[in-house]
Amino acid sequence: MFKKNILCIGAGYVGGPTMAVIARHCPEYQVVVVDINHDRIMRWNSDNLPIFEPGLDEIVSAVRGKNLFFRTDVDEQIDGADIIFVSVNTPTKTFGLGAGKAADLQFWEITARQILKNSSKPKIVVEKSTLPVRTAAAIGRILDSNEKKIHFEIVSNPEFLAEGSAIRDLETPDRVLIGARETDSGQAALKEVVDIYKHWVPEEKILTSSVWSSELSKLVANAFLAQRVSSINSISALCEKTNADIEEVAKAVGMDSRIGPKFLKAGLGFGGSCFKKDILNLTYIAENYGLSEVARYWEQVLEINSYQQRRFVDIIIKQMFNTIVGKKIAIFGFAFKADTGDTRESPAINVCRGLLDEKAQLAIHDPKALDGAAKDLEEYAGQFTLESDPYSAASKAHAIVIATDWSQFVSLDYARIFETMEKPAFIFDGRNLLDHRKLYQIGFSVHRIGRPPLSRL
Ligand code: NAD
Ligand code: UGA
Repeated sequence: MFKKNILCIGAGYVGGPTMAVIARHCPEYQVVVVDINHDRIMRWNSDNLPIFEPGLDEIVSAVRGKNLFFRTDVDEQIDGADIIFVSVNTPTKTFGLGAGKAADLQFWEITARQILKNSSKPKIVVEKSTLPVRTAAAIGRILDSNEKKIHFEIVSNPEFLAEGSAIRDLETPDRVLIGARETDSGQAALKEVVDIYKHWVPEEKILTSSVWSSELSKLVANAFLAQRVSSINSISALCEKTNADIEEVAKAVGMDSRIGPKFLKAGLGFGGSCFKKDILNLTYIAENYGLSEVARYWEQVLEINSYQQRRFVDIIIKQMFNTIVGKKIAIFGFAFKADTGDTRESPAINVCRGLLDEKAQLAIHDPKALDGAAKDLEEYAGQFTLESDPYSAASKAHAIVIATDWSQFVSLDYARIFETMEKPAFIFDGRNLLDHRKLYQIGFSVHRIGRPPLSRL
């Protein structure tokens, strides 16, 4: 018999890893993860997990079948649960009021109604998804609209993990944020959720707050991170005009302990499923409260992100003698960052589209994200190939574009690659990842972000 039953609705990038780590540290709790996506659940129950995260396989195989279970019978699992984490997706709305900006809360609302329909006793419902501030009030109204007089307590516990380092982030988080109402039942629910994390997170890192602060903090944390990326990328454009070097500038600026060195890596801009959608959501909320100056301020973070990708494509075309029609270009990396197979909002998508629109022929190589690339570029079928081997991707290419910061790209044999390429051979390093001087010595013309080019032309 388990001491408590935890249910998580949504077995995605957040639900799966988060619950695996909870199950591992809380052997006396039963943790069930449910999803309507049968294929995903089947893979969670196999040796071929639906997401790639370093360290995840080991944890899942240690606890799956003991106190961690993946299932598809969502309705049936609800009533047995004491605490329900909801980590369903909250994408940007694509239709109707707020289209292109507001969060689409339909999956959350469906889930809330499912919880209501299938419950016969009180429960704690935990917002794990990223939600607009004050969502708990709306969800509360749905859950309270029951004739059964069941009490549901809503707690906000946003997730701060980053993909590629999810397990490390969950095992040793900077903080765990839990927001609850000031009422006795709110504080009792808060304690229940704190008790879960206390199994492995030091108490001083468990931060409690109001529900509204917790909901808003998640959006703001992502907005601040994205803002740093856009700030450094905006300066990279200025570096290219002035022969300053963005790596040197970032180092000098980041050594100020008030600023700090993290998230100052210039590149192709941020991708991933959340930064863009969360900033759009923040601007939408600000607008709704009549704060248009606030909304405009944050919109610029997104504007610079798109600008950085457009700028990079323009540089490639210009350097390659203003035409790339029919030229083979090898794309190294398609995932939105290293160590993940996720391509959602990957900068590589816009860069590839820009090149494909100019009628280039692409050979795309990525260690984990080729399936995503095929889907993301399906309207260009016939204009690109997917290559599991970087050497064949580069063979007979006019240029290599580094689009993801996979560490394995650093140790490739670029002298061998150079021999097989058309000349002049270009490298456009969109992540400032490689040893540029060495590449230049081999014979490449090297273009990088925010740094003087090493051009042979
Ligand atoms: P995801 O799309 O990978 O997973 C969501 C899952 O919920 C899907 O598998 C979907 O089938 C399932 N689902 C939807 N409706 C359902 C229902 N009614 N019943 C059962 N299952 C249902 O999304 P994700 O990346 O895990 O993100 C989930 C939330 O967490 C989002 O709000 C996101 O903003 C937030 N978040 C994501 C990350 C990240 O790194 N991906 C990090 C922090 C926070
Ligand atoms: C981000 C946040 O880091 C997490 O805290 C948050 O929980 C998550 O979003 C979310 O809410 O989904 P993630 O998107 O997985 O995590 O990855 P990051 O490491 O933040 O990188 C985001 C993007 O910014 C990547 O494309 C990365 O290449 C880019 N980036 C990051 C830079 O271009 N420069 C940097 O210095 C840092």
